[in-house]
Amino acid sequence: PLIRREDYTPFPWLVPQIALEFELGIEHTLVTSTLTVARNAKAQRSDTIRLNGDGLTALSVTVDGEPAGDWSMDGDDLILPLHGEAHAIKVVTAIDPSANSQLMGLYASSGMLCTQCEAEGFRRITFFPDRPDVLSTYTVRMSGPKAEFPILLCNGNRVAEGEGEGGTHWAEWHDPWPKPSYLFALVAGDLVANSGRFTTMSGREVELNIWVRAEDLPRTEHALESLKKSMQWDEQAFGREYDLDLFNIVAVSDFNMGAMENKGLNVFNTKYVLADPDTATDADFDAIEGVIAHEYFHNWSGNRVTCRDWFQLSLKEGFTVLRDQLFSQDMQGEAVKRIEDVRILRSAQFPEDSGPLAHPIRPDSFREISNFYTATVYNKGAEVIRMMRTMAGPERFRAGCDLYFERHDGEAATCEDFIRAMEEGAGLDLEQFRLWYSQAGTPKVTVRLEHSGDTATLHLSQQVPPTPGQPDKQAMPIPLRIALFDRATGKHEGEQLVVLGKAEDSFAFTGFAEPPVLSINRGYSAPVTIERTVPHADLVFLAAQDDDSFARYEAMQELVVSHIVAAAGDGLDDAARAAGRAAIRTALAAILADAALDDSMRGELVMLPSQTYLSEQMLIADPGRIHAEREGLKAWLGRELESEFVALHLRVSEIPYGLEQAARGARKIKTQALVYLAAGNPDLAAQMAKAQYEAADNMTDRQGALMVLTGLDSAARTDKLIDFYRRYQGNELVIDKWFTLQAISLHPHAIEHVRVLAGHPDFTLRNPNRVRSLYMAFAGNPHAFHGESGEGYRMIADLILALDPINAQTAARFVPSLGRWRRIEPVRAALMRQELERIAASDRLSRDTFEQVTRSLG
Ligand code: ARG
Ligand code: ZN
Repeated sequence: PLIRREDYTPFPWLVPQIALEFELGIEHTLVTSTLTVARNAKAQRSDTIRLNGDGLTALSVTVDGEPAGDWSMDGDDLILPLHGEAHAIKVVTAIDPSANSQLMGLYASSGMLCTQCEAEGFRRITFFPDRPDVLSTYTVRMSGPKAEFPILLCNGNRVAEGEGEGGTHWAEWHDPWPKPSYLFALVAGDLVANSGRFTTMSGREVELNIWVRAEDLPRTEHALESLKKSMQWDEQAFGREYDLDLFNIVAVSDFNMGAMENKGLNVFNTKYVLADPDTATDADFDAIEGVIAHEYFHNWSGNRVTCRDWFQLSLKEGFTVLRDQLFSQDMQGEAVKRIEDVRILRSAQFPEDSGPLAHPIRPDSFREISNFYTATVYNKGAEVIRMMRTMAGPERFRAGCDLYFERHDGEAATCEDFIRAMEEGAGLDLEQFRLWYSQAGTPKVTVRLEHSGDTATLHLSQQVPPTPGQPDKQAMPIPLRIALFDRATGKHEGEQLVVLGKAEDSFAFTGFAEPPVLSINRGYSAPVTIERTVPHADLVFLAAQDDDSFARYEAMQELVVSHIVAAAGDGLDDAARAAGRAAIRTALAAILADAALDDSMRGELVMLPSQTYLSEQMLIADPGRIHAEREGLKAWLGRELESEFVALHLRVSEIPYGLEQAARGARKIKTQALVYLAAGNPDLAAQMAKAQYEAADNMTDRQGALMVLTGLDSAARTDKLIDFYRRYQGNELVIDKWFTLQAISLHPHAIEHVRVLAGHPDFTLRNPNRVRSLYMAFAGNPHAFHGESGEGYRMIADLILALDPINAQTAARFVPSLGRWRRIEPVRAALMRQELERIAASDRLSRDTFEQVTRSLG
């Protein structure tokens, strides 16, 4: 059934307390749940209570100590008549965690037991009103064989523990903070901890633990340090303090997502915990820092203030992503982090906004909420709150946040509550701004700068494109940071904020005898597409000297995007192609030569726009032509600037390994130089990549070199792939990289390689990281996935069908890659559609995959 936001009604019963008892076993776990329920005065009276279940059988149901004879099942839910004002309900269920391949609810992962309850996994453990607006205080007793599960963890604080009969032991946990069921967690297993301490601003001593398998302990230091930094930063930047004496993080190998913010017991994908220089890249280190922060920040934005219903998901996710982005900006430098975040938005969220799955950051309806943990809800959600911050300024924004936390602490809130707190606390008028919550689609802003006399006039117009279910859109407030550069001096008189609130508007600026160069949407102040015709010379100017790093990056991107889009679209004549290439070469050469630029930023500036982003710029894209143009340009630049790239590679290869910014920048640009050379001069690049691989004393250099080699036809390719595998055999996360490198490779036979790898003894559909390492990587490899035969599409459709019964959530995440068919040239579009139809024809699809496939077919 379709669930609608407007149908929200409060639950008729409150559940102030829940006591849970777990008798744990990998194959048999017995769960006894006792709920204290009372009528909810704020809801409509009901003489039944609906307890959600998912695949559960109730072994016994008792009300106020008496066996209840009159309960019934409605689908998976248990319905129980209740006539009094308050009752105690006791339900016993039995589950088999080892058979839980969906990884929702209680499941087994390499010998341990763990849980994932968000969004609706708790109902796979016991019958309960499994919705985020029912808040309860949890008391949990867990028992099990001590040898198998020496460590027993749950939310909150451990209040008692002891030994039982026959080699068992038990622990009792109490979480004083009322929470919804999606924040419940339990872990039992043979784990060791890297422990630390943190003293909060009011003097609370908090014990910190990063729990892992014994062999992983040496790779937990970065995670622990990241946690301490996060705790410190949230106090300084948002005034948010931790509220328990214990904070546990557990790393799990089998996990559907990145991590989960369960109160006091965060459960993480190992990918976002384990790192050392030999096995993790710089990007891995950063991702760990960012995800640890994200989950920690949820303690306030998500846990202390939670969501009323799942339509409000962006309330916690968009806000928490913004908070983790601001944190990472402070840790790693604002310029590069902002560019990375925009790149993610454009490659992951723009395609959602322009495709069949487009939805507002606060969706209006869904069948399966797991399908709405999207880049739109998370990343566009963060951009929307970032715009409020831009309009209010950091201080007033902070005041708005303070008011929000103060007003809604302990509540299940809505996006509307957040907006109101911002209006009152930050002093913003957000009447029209609310449209950002209800309208889907990436707005397009058309820009024209007119000059006459001493006045420069900025003419802006906006268009919010139609999206499924939303044919007509209203104009939204679009805050644009701008600067007007004097061409001669290369300076500007200060940045201004222009808010375009109408369909069309003009803004005049005086004091310009000569036409200035416009820098617009600086810092990417609004998540929109800018459309303008601007001379190459202006873009070359901005790419070389804009004082806003993002704008500088953007100018370089615009130069390349406009060229490739024109070339892959209507086509370019020789003269136009030569002029376009020459401008790009000039800008790139200036970036390579700029001694004032740090290598990390240089690495951003030289990066070519992704094929996904390029395709987004075209109404109908031909993946083959875009790929050919992009590779052709890269090869031409690689040849034209060969000596510059070789010299750059040589210079940065001298810099020893370190975690400081300069050394990290060196590693980033080192592999990028190889990427250009590999396109321009494959033999030379193969030699250099082989040397880089052999000299590497860290994963960033080694993986970079191997990535380049994997795309080339050279003897070193096989050699180094074998070497890498042998070196890291048994290390799951690094073997994931080995699969990925081959699946994303530029090698003409990449698809055959993927097919062979699917039969590799290390490949399994049971582990989401492994599935993604091969197939998500492949689906993102344009030349292989979009191969003309349609084989790539068939491969992904086969995967979806095979994976769906095992892990529906992960299977459904592959659908959007096929769902893009409407924006692809007709021959491929037909093949993609055909595969979607083949999936749709299956009569046993999960709700997850069914929803995504039907929406994609439209
Ligand atoms: N709240 C988690 C996080 O961002 C994600 C959990 C998603 N779970 C799911 N089943 N979709 O941070
Ligand atoms: Zn989150």
